[in-house]
Amino acid sequence: MLSIENGGKFFGCLMGRLPVEEVRLSVPGKEDCIIAKSEKKGVGLMSAENMEYLTIALPKGKVFGKAAELFKKIGYTAEGLSDKSRKLIITNRDKKIRFIITKTADVPVYVEYGAADIGVIGKDVLLESAKDVYELLDLKIAKCHLMMAVAKQAKRAHLADYANTRVATKFPHIAAEFFNSKGMQMEYIKLHGSIELGPIVGLSESIVDIVETGTTLRENDLEEYAFIADATARLIANRVSFKMKFDRISKMLEDLRAIIG
Ligand code: PRP
Repeated sequence: MLSIENGGKFFGCLMGRLPVEEVRLSVPGKEDCIIAKSEKKGVGLMSAENMEYLTIALPKGKVFGKAAELFKKIGYTAEGLSDKSRKLIITNRDKKIRFIITKTADVPVYVEYGAADIGVIGKDVLLESAKDVYELLDLKIAKCHLMMAVAKQAKRAHLADYANTRVATKFPHIAAEFFNSKGMQMEYIKLHGSIELGPIVGLSESIVDIVETGTTLRENDLEEYAFIADATARLIANRVSFKMKFDRISKMLEDLRAIIG
């Protein structure tokens, strides 16, 4: 017996990715039975051309250059590929590759919904987004880590001394997971940048953020207090794309592994 759950997330994604509008069950001697229909005909359906292309989402900003360089080394590039370009889709027709350039936080969204097959994203943003994607490879670029930092001058003796205080962060889910694991209840204040300001202006007692060179902490008289997790850039894939474009994605992984070491 064949059983397919219609309406499930995986199924919806699969239907949106197939160049078909309906799936029929054929039993010899019986009339065909339609077992699933795409809800929006012609919308979101993957054309034969899309099936042929591999779409890669790259984030604007710090990671872009390093990621584009890695892809270039394995022959994945396209004329005019730059995060300064106003063109948001850059195509290499010969190699059947398409790059889309998005805001960092949106990369996992494009990949989860299958608008991109592959994406490059920092582990910090990936953890925070909690998106349903495959994490395929640590690209070992954009090395940084997630940590808790506090104002040097108001440093408390023990982590537990910060219980029930305010934490400013771009990563409230990661921060909550960290403090919950220590049995600490906190108040989380979501900010979108310049997190280090929090303790300086009295908005919070601590921050949870990424640190790369440590310069921003030093220049603002803050000190790393607790390590949370490493956060290099990762290669992620849409779950359906990984199955349907398995050969291309596996080859890409193999080539990337060879140069990353
Ligand atoms: C990130 C992060 C820190 C800084 C750490 O901010 O939020 O502020 O980099 O880097 P460092 O250890 O090398 O000083 P980003 O530059 O992305 O800008 P933002 O504050 O606007 O988020």
